[in-house]
Amino acid sequence: MSVVKLCVVAAFLFPGSLAANVYAQAEQPCLRSGAEETYQRKVGSSQALTGSSSARRQRSSETSDTCKVWQGYEIRLRNNTHPYQFIDLSGSVSLAWVGDGTGVVLALTTFQVPLLLVKFGQSKLYRSENYGKSFSDVSDLINNTFIRTEFGIAIGPDNSGKVILTGEVSGGSPGGRIFRSLNFGYNFTQTDLPFHPLTQVTYNPRNASHLLVLSIKYDLWISLNFGETWKKIHDVVCLAKWDLDHTIFFTTNPNGSCIDRGMLILKKTSDFGESFKTVGDKIYSFGLGGRFVFASVMTGVGTMRRIHVSVNQGETWNMAQLPPVGHEQFYSILAANDDMVFMHVDEQGDTGFGTIFVSDDRGIIYSKSLERHLYTTTGGDTDFTNVTSLRGVYMTSVLAEDGSVQTVITFDQGGEWNPIQKPENGQCDSTAKDKEKCSLHIHATYSMSQKLPVPMLPLSEPNAVGLVIAHGSVGDAISLMTPDVYVSDDGGYSWTKALNGPHHYAILDSGGLIVAVEHNANQPIKHIKFSTDEGQCWYNYTFTEDPIYFTGLASEPGARSMNVSIWGYRDSMLSQFWVSITIDFKELLTRDCDMNDYVQWLAHSSDLSNPNDGCVLGYKEKYLRLRKSSVCWNGRDYIVNKQPTTCPCSLDDFLCDFGYYRTENSSICLEQPDLKGHDLEFCLHGKEEMLKTNGYRKIPGDQCQGGKVPERKEIDLRKKCVSTLLYPSEKVSQSIASSALVIAAVITILLLTVIAGVIFVKKYVCGGRFLVHRYSILKQHAEANGIDGVDELDINSSESNRQTYHDDSDEDLLE
Ligand SMILES: *[C@@H]1O[C@H](CO)[C@@H](O)[C@H](O)[C@H]1NC(C)=O
Ligand SMILES: *[C@@H]1O[C@H](CO)[C@@H](O)[C@H](O)[C@H]1NC(C)=O
Ligand SMILES: *[C@@H]1O[C@H](CO)[C@@H](O)[C@H](O)[C@H]1NC(C)=O
Ligand SMILES: *[C@@H]1O[C@H](CO)[C@@H](O)[C@H](O)[C@H]1NC(C)=O
Ligand SMILES: *[C@@H]1O[C@H](CO)[C@@H](O)[C@H](O)[C@H]1NC(C)=O
Ligand SMILES: *[C@@H]1O[C@H](CO)[C@@H](O)[C@H](O)[C@H]1NC(C)=O
Ligand SMILES: *[C@@H]1O[C@H](CO)[C@@H](O)[C@H](O)[C@H]1NC(C)=O
Ligand SMILES: *[C@@H]1O[C@H](CO)[C@@H](O)[C@H](O)[C@H]1NC(C)=O
Ligand SMILES: *[C@@H]1O[C@H](CO)[C@@H](O)[C@H](O)[C@H]1NC(C)=O
Repeated sequence: MSVVKLCVVAAFLFPGSLAANVYAQAEQPCLRSGAEETYQRKVGSSQALTGSSSARRQRSSETSDTCKVWQGYEIRLRNNTHPYQFIDLSGSVSLAWVGDGTGVVLALTTFQVPLLLVKFGQSKLYRSENYGKSFSDVSDLINNTFIRTEFGIAIGPDNSGKVILTGEVSGGSPGGRIFRSLNFGYNFTQTDLPFHPLTQVTYNPRNASHLLVLSIKYDLWISLNFGETWKKIHDVVCLAKWDLDHTIFFTTNPNGSCIDRGMLILKKTSDFGESFKTVGDKIYSFGLGGRFVFASVMTGVGTMRRIHVSVNQGETWNMAQLPPVGHEQFYSILAANDDMVFMHVDEQGDTGFGTIFVSDDRGIIYSKSLERHLYTTTGGDTDFTNVTSLRGVYMTSVLAEDGSVQTVITFDQGGEWNPIQKPENGQCDSTAKDKEKCSLHIHATYSMSQKLPVPMLPLSEPNAVGLVIAHGSVGDAISLMTPDVYVSDDGGYSWTKALNGPHHYAILDSGGLIVAVEHNANQPIKHIKFSTDEGQCWYNYTFTEDPIYFTGLASEPGARSMNVSIWGYRDSMLSQFWVSITIDFKELLTRDCDMNDYVQWLAHSSDLSNPNDGCVLGYKEKYLRLRKSSVCWNGRDYIVNKQPTTCPCSLDDFLCDFGYYRTENSSICLEQPDLKGHDLEFCLHGKEEMLKTNGYRKIPGDQCQGGKVPERKEIDLRKKCVSTLLYPSEKVSQSIASSALVIAAVITILLLTVIAGVIFVKKYVCGGRFLVHRYSILKQHAEANGIDGVDELDINSSESNRQTYHDDSDEDLLE
């Protein structure tokens, strides 16, 4: 997947240029907003990166003011600051970077008047070829058609320069209109559609010429020639997604209503609608993540449903070893890759929390990972965050027994979760009982939903190794006080307070440069802060003399750019107009980095004397990282240099397979005694799986070698254990594009909502027991009494959908 896909579209909104209110908002997490003052931070740990120094090293706390005085940067930046003013009063701007490193930015402004149910308005399109330094008005390319903000700008997944804009055409026309570009938005072809689109056009991730879209009548339309001609392949389609190998999965209901959740049929087509195969029925919803297909299937017992998983595109299914949920509960995929999935399972009742489970490599066996994981039922808010700058690191929030929200972090892919270490230079706030002992709490989606002044979600980038920037507070729980910005340079082990108060921030040049703009909704601003040493020392640059109302920071997705645009608007007597000020930091850093600028760093290190220091999931990695004191340019071509070494295995590199369990504090997997003779609810579909096991299974992604490997005779666990819930009917039906039944439009929320993440969170009980738990700490009692109930889990987790505009809907709320 291209870097650019992750965060291609950023939208800024005026609250409404018609309204008197000039409060502005950065709508997208992709946008970051700016700063004001010069900020000085201790240099404390610049040598901490050298050699083998540990990730959890000590920092001298307030040794502040060791930052050097840096003369003359203003002059260099002044020459590289490019303001651009849009003669445009529109209420919102959407931005999209087209291609990787092309410098092409499209800005779509939309002036929208909601009139009853009808929306009309006007759009303008601007295009830049120099990373936003200047734009030209190319609105004539779209014939001044109104482009709805929700549909935004759809960028092709392959950096081939494909762009689609979905226009709104007025009055009784038989269909909508799209504008298609093959050349990075240089010109567009107008195409009238034979239907009105309900959703944004979705690209096949494997071939950007293949498009699918649902119409407002819930017909599924595809095009194989980049939107030139369209074919209706199915009607009454509730949700449709591209999967690997050009397959399309979709749910439908022969009775014609998508409202009837639990009665849906899951179908797939691998030949673009020539033929269809039904792969499941009684489906409540489905989701794709990594190489897994998930479906929640009605059990026929009341309103209960269960997750089934397939790793061969729905040909065969296994029942996931996860608890069933009722209609008021939900499952959610928090994160999934080809190795494994994090699944949230909502707790019974309106608790606002659930349990995180992590899967094995087949997506079948789940270990309980975190209880009381905060995940609000109402808003679907969870703080679950993949810290992409260090392998195995994830953060999220739990709802404590006392009702407070607390952040926890895992460094081993969900094996163990702990509070975040208190920043050396942070003081415990009033939420702390003990003023000396407390931890850092990270503000993410949940805080945003609570309207706290948190303008940005936590930020990390795979190419900025170890770097994490987030809003936080220090205490026993998340506090309602104004958060500050904290930075970690070791993937979340240690943190320092970097900026006072909320900021918008962005990572540039693969972490060699961080910029930040102070968040202040009501005051116009003119300063931006930047740091070349991962947030220790900050410098203050006045980017304009004429302050702007700031709406967001925008830089090319992928964090390789050195150009950052500060978006906002100015307010004159009569009007507001959009302003973008682009700063090119290239001349600030003046030179390319050379080998002397990098030092070796062992990730996850805590104890150098331990030969297994740094081992996570069976291997450790040494990185070459930029010295903090080096002021130089990583460059666009920078690639992360990492040297992995495998570690010897221990039993902790294995999870217990189906039919086995661990007792508390023990690494040994014991056979579940009374599994024998049980009809297993848990199901491994006959042909595929022989169900031979020695009780252990490598944790997904674990690469340990040698050492202590479990030695035990394999036994055959095969049982009559085929799920009776899901019967893939082998019939292949011809595609019939019959006329559509009209369906009440209630499912659009599901269609439009993209939530990153997957996890089921309840204990799975089989034959009245928990069968498998990967981590002995979390290993359950529930041995004895063959009680068929699930014991109370009281954990909730919340995860925010970090990329609202993530145009790749791989990960979903799987309800
Ligand atoms: C940044 O510089 C400007 C002018 O030099 C000053 O007014 C402002 O207070 C500074 N900000 C900080 C945080 O030092
Ligand atoms: C700034 O740009 C001007 C003209 O482009 C040039 O004459 C001047 O030397 C530059 N100043 C610096 C400090 O680079
Ligand atoms: C778009 O530009 C390309 C290259 O200049 C040209 O070949 C093509 O005909 C143009 N298409 C339209 C629809 O103008
Ligand atoms: C603009 O609309 C007119 C009339 O519908 C059409 O003839 C023309 O081709 C359109 N131009 C573009 C660039 O799509
Ligand atoms: C994408 O599909 C089109 C038509 O189906 C085909 O002509 C083209 O070669 C495919 N492109 C790639 C990169 O596979
Ligand atoms: C369709 O409706 C009929 C009658 O309401 C019902 O018996 C049948 O189960 C429904 N089928 C599906 C797939 O919803
Ligand atoms: C977390 O992010 C990393 C880096 O982007 C990625 O490799 C990994 O697969 C992600 N984890 C999950 C479970 O999606
Ligand atoms: C910044 O923008 C300029 C064009 O204005 C471009 O040449 C340069 O490559 C960009 N820098 C980076 C690192 O993307
Ligand atoms: C497991 O270990 C913890 C901490 O070492 C201890 O408090 C607990 O009693 C142990 N549990 C058992 C069953 O041994």
